[in-house]
Amino acid sequence: MEEKITVSIIKADVGGWPGHALVHPELMSVARKELEKVKGKLLIDYHVANCGDDLELIMTHRRGTDDEEVHRLAWETFETATKKAEELKLYGAGQDLLSDAFSGNIKGMGPGVAELEFIERRGEPIVAFLMDKTEPGAFNLPIFKMFGDPFNTIGLVIDPSAHAGFRFEVWDIYEHKRVFMDCPEEMYSLLALIGAKSRYVIKRIFPKPGGSLPDNEAVAAISTEKLYEIAGDYVGKDDPVALVRAQSGLPALGEVLEPFSFPHLVSGWMRGSHNGPIMPVAQRNAVCTRFDGPPRVVALGFQIANGRLVGPVDLFDDPGFDNARSLAKDAADYMRRHGPFEPHRLPLSEMEYTTMPKVLGKLKNRFKSVK
Ligand code: 13P
Ligand code: 13P
Ligand code: MG
Ligand code: MG
Repeated sequence: MEEKITVSIIKADVGGWPGHALVHPELMSVARKELEKVKGKLLIDYHVANCGDDLELIMTHRRGTDDEEVHRLAWETFETATKKAEELKLYGAGQDLLSDAFSGNIKGMGPGVAELEFIERRGEPIVAFLMDKTEPGAFNLPIFKMFGDPFNTIGLVIDPSAHAGFRFEVWDIYEHKRVFMDCPEEMYSLLALIGAKSRYVIKRIFPKPGGSLPDNEAVAAISTEKLYEIAGDYVGKDDPVALVRAQSGLPALGEVLEPFSFPHLVSGWMRGSHNGPIMPVAQRNAVCTRFDGPPRVVALGFQIANGRLVGPVDLFDDPGFDNARSLAKDAADYMRRHGPFEPHRLPLSEMEYTTMPKVLGKLKNRFKSVK
């Protein structure tokens, strides 16, 4: 049997430079150095990147998803990078490392994880999406458009190998439950769930049974770790990542990128407490400065050749996305003018995990009943 390849992105914010703007280049060097040590051994290949203040380890290997050694490598790399962050007194050094010791799987320990294991096709394009200043539900709209919306993905209409549609794995992140839904058959029910993006998040996409691609190999995966649920206290939004395979029975590369021509509103931004547009940017522009944002998304494209990451191509470094950036800037102006008012500020239910309850707590005794 053909050996499967695994692509893993594991990411963490281990210190911002300055504030929550960026990853310091020395942290990137530390990460490269650590991963280089195991290239050709544990890992086939790797690429270290950042989106804003999030350090992203993109790795290929043959050990499957949830592999203890690969997760340990990522954890220890983040620990080493944290030491450097502490030395430079970067902001929130070690912010996403919520445990003192590695316990076999990095999930639930702070960092975000997206992994895909599959048999490499003759041509294997893959896109790593990296977001900063938002949460996993920010991927619901664009992933739905890629795999469920014929106005975005013409392949669903004209490509016989994509015509059957796709299967969506949706997680209820409060109840820790999941459901599989087929699209287009169950599209309206699916949208009933994923439109509520703070609770129901798309975790994976699968091909339908009977098609040209194996129905047990996910073709897209999104990191869904919820920091506040782990920590019980506010430690920053869980800026998400996603992996999406493209072409030959899947959305074409351009269909995978097209949803980002609309800078939809996501939650995150300043103090993880505001709604704002997500702006698709080139890697060099993933610097979150205006009101600590607006939220960003970077897309790095690779061809995979026997596990080798041929790339990256900085896919939003394209004037074709200028209008999306322009609209995002206008939307940012519009939202900002609400100041501390909803719906710029997140609804109370989502502010529960910020520092705001402490402020409200102080006012508690001032309230007298109204007769
Ligand atoms: P090419 O003809 O450039 O291979 O493109 C085919 C395609 O499907 C573009 O989406
Ligand atoms: P990060 O989640 O990117 O660290 O941002 C936190 C924040 O408070 C920004 O204002
Ligand atoms: Mg940060
Ligand atoms: Mg961040």
